[in-house]
Amino acid sequence: MSTFSKTRPPLLETTRPTADQTVLRVTDLTTGFRRGATTTEVVRGVSFDLRAGRTLVLLGESGCGKSVTARSLMRLTPERAVIGGSVQLGDEELLTLPLADVVRRRGKRIALVPQDPAGALSPLRKIGSQVSEVLRVHGIVGTRQERTGRTLELLDRVGIPDPQRVAGSYAHELSGGMRQRVAIAIAVACDPEVLIADEPTTALDVTVQAQILELFQDLQARLGMATLLVTHDVGVAERMADEIAVMYAGRIVESGLAETVLSAPRHPYTAALLRALPVPGVRRGELQPIPGQPSAPSERPAGCPFRTRCDFQHDACSEYEPPLFVTDVATHAACDLMRPSQQAVG
Ligand SMILES: Nc1ncnc2c1ncn2[C@@H]1O[C@H](COP(=O)(O)OP(=O)(O)OP(=O)(O)O)[C@@H](O)[C@H]1O
Ligand SMILES: [Mg+2]
Repeated sequence: MSTFSKTRPPLLETTRPTADQTVLRVTDLTTGFRRGATTTEVVRGVSFDLRAGRTLVLLGESGCGKSVTARSLMRLTPERAVIGGSVQLGDEELLTLPLADVVRRRGKRIALVPQDPAGALSPLRKIGSQVSEVLRVHGIVGTRQERTGRTLELLDRVGIPDPQRVAGSYAHELSGGMRQRVAIAIAVACDPEVLIADEPTTALDVTVQAQILELFQDLQARLGMATLLVTHDVGVAERMADEIAVMYAGRIVESGLAETVLSAPRHPYTAALLRALPVPGVRRGELQPIPGQPSAPSERPAGCPFRTRCDFQHDACSEYEPPLFVTDVATHAACDLMRPSQQAVG
């Protein structure tokens, strides 16, 4: 045979997208929640592409709409949610596809590691049966014996040292880190093209966090998934991101290549986030918390929603909500200071 590769091939023989190919395209995604006669929009006009083998980090403070964005992509929102815009997986539009067809693609082509993995595992069934269930539902492997073999292989793949023992355990018998590995095994069981991970390390202690992030990097290198990683942690973004999209008040306010966004932030919110959190190697000096709180979606101020917390607030900020302008460092930032005429002056 031809070339010898040290990396194992994917579990399944499928046609994989080539590296960097856009696998998921989100355009103008808008999600609101109905209450009585009013609908409050919590995700507003979010657009991004996910590419094979690349990680986009969605970064922002609590309540800015990260989880609702992640769940809207898979139509995992409650019934009273109203979703608009477009989510294209390959050549399929997930927002208009019958829900039953979207459900069939979940886990198989697009998978989620949820914000609370411990809660996502059943307390009543052994781990092995929960992993093999995914393989059964998607008709991945035929016989029960084959599924058991595949289950052990998956547990091994996510770095579980004794797959046989863990397969026979219940969720409560495992550590937080092990439960997270199981949740990841379930997510990657069918070699999805797109992996969405919502705060996958938040509940874990620092050492285990590092191990889980390493696992994501390893799996992505082996399987070439397009990954959306949701986090409020600038350190996680710095370590994992190829690209970063910073979210504030339901919108992406800055986006671009990770190293550029982190080293040359052009939105005052991004700059404030970087000053507020310790990131080794990115900046030094005193940490400064961002003053104030983000306003609730129903109480957003007119104009730029960040203006009430911003050191650079000026008259124009209350007059309109800036769109994403192209910046001098080829990122995009939704700040009046980045308006082309302003940049020329500055
Ligand atoms: N089911 C729901 N019904 C109504 N409002 C909701 C619902 N889920 C979320 N929200 C609101 O949508 C906004 C965004 O919530 P979301 O969970 O996406 O934030 P987040 O960025 O993931 O925050 P965190 O970092 O705390 O997880 C919040 O104001 C939240 O209260
Ligand atoms: Mg969340």
